[in-house]
Amino acid sequence: MPLNQPIRAWRDRRVWIVGASTGIGAALAERWGTAGARLALSARSGDKLAALAQGINAAGGAAMVLPLDVRSPDALQVAHAAIVERWGGIDLVVLNAGTYAPMRADAFDLGSMNEHFAVNYQGVVNALAAVIPGLLLRAAQQPAIAIVSSVAGYRGLPEALAYGPSKAALINLAETLYLDLSKKGIGVFLIDPGFVDTPLTSQNKFKMPALISAQEAARQIELGMALGEFEIHFPKRFTRVMRMLRLLPYGAYFRLVRRMTGL
Ligand SMILES: NC(=O)c1ccc[n+]([C@@H]2O[C@H](COP(=O)([O-])OP(=O)(O)OC[C@H]3O[C@@H](n4cnc5c(N)ncnc54)[C@H](OP(=O)(O)O)[C@@H]3O)[C@@H](O)[C@H]2O)c1
Repeated sequence: MPLNQPIRAWRDRRVWIVGASTGIGAALAERWGTAGARLALSARSGDKLAALAQGINAAGGAAMVLPLDVRSPDALQVAHAAIVERWGGIDLVVLNAGTYAPMRADAFDLGSMNEHFAVNYQGVVNALAAVIPGLLLRAAQQPAIAIVSSVAGYRGLPEALAYGPSKAALINLAETLYLDLSKKGIGVFLIDPGFVDTPLTSQNKFKMPALISAQEAARQIELGMALGEFEIHFPKRFTRVMRMLRLLPYGAYFRLVRRMTGL
């Protein structure tokens, strides 16, 4: 029994991607735009969104652009109202906006800590405040929410002092949303990527294990949605190991992570 209603048809599906200007979000937009979905694309970089939408529309797709900063609840409310006025409702909202800067405790940066929570966690909460009331009203149409977290949210990891906790909070948020919303007919997908080659990870100085392209990440997300999975994690050769590490007692986990990362 799939945990969510599988999503297999993309033609005319009304999809709002928040965090669509680059990386995984842009790859999803290109993929679903080609498949005939109606797209609303949001992020701060209006120029990048416009270029993306232009390419999608030139290929016969239907994309509109709504630039915003997820740190502003008002901006999300305004964008949501504009989408509903245009489409009458939303079938899938993908909350993908995120930021990452490595940090360790001996270089503790309160500004960066707060920024990670403001964008990665509070940004999702701000979007949920905008979309949930409308999704509940149209629950009979089986709409869905997808939250992009990370395997970095599973357990504590070196360099992830600011990023990891914000992603851990999203995992708990998605689980709790699922318990509340799935029984009302609203799907909740939790997306936990491993390493994906995007502007976000380009700053990493270490060799990223099992690195995949943004296009492959988008393909995996679509596959997970077609299977109706709750947690969509990929690439499996990496995420299966990360999931096993979750089961280790703390002593073994800390020793293993130190040995694996050398940090
Ligand atoms: N790449 C990986 O290895 C990896 C692994 C696990 C999870 N993830 C997660 O996947 C998601 C997408 O990341 P990515 O790797 O594709 O990186 P990316 O290319 O840097 O994409 C991040 C997206 O978020 C948007 N964004 C950032 N801050 C924003 C803000 N304040 N308001 C609105 N939009 C904002 C960015 O657009 P603007 O800058 O134009 O606003 C961009 O569209 C993130 O949530 C990330 O944490 C990535």
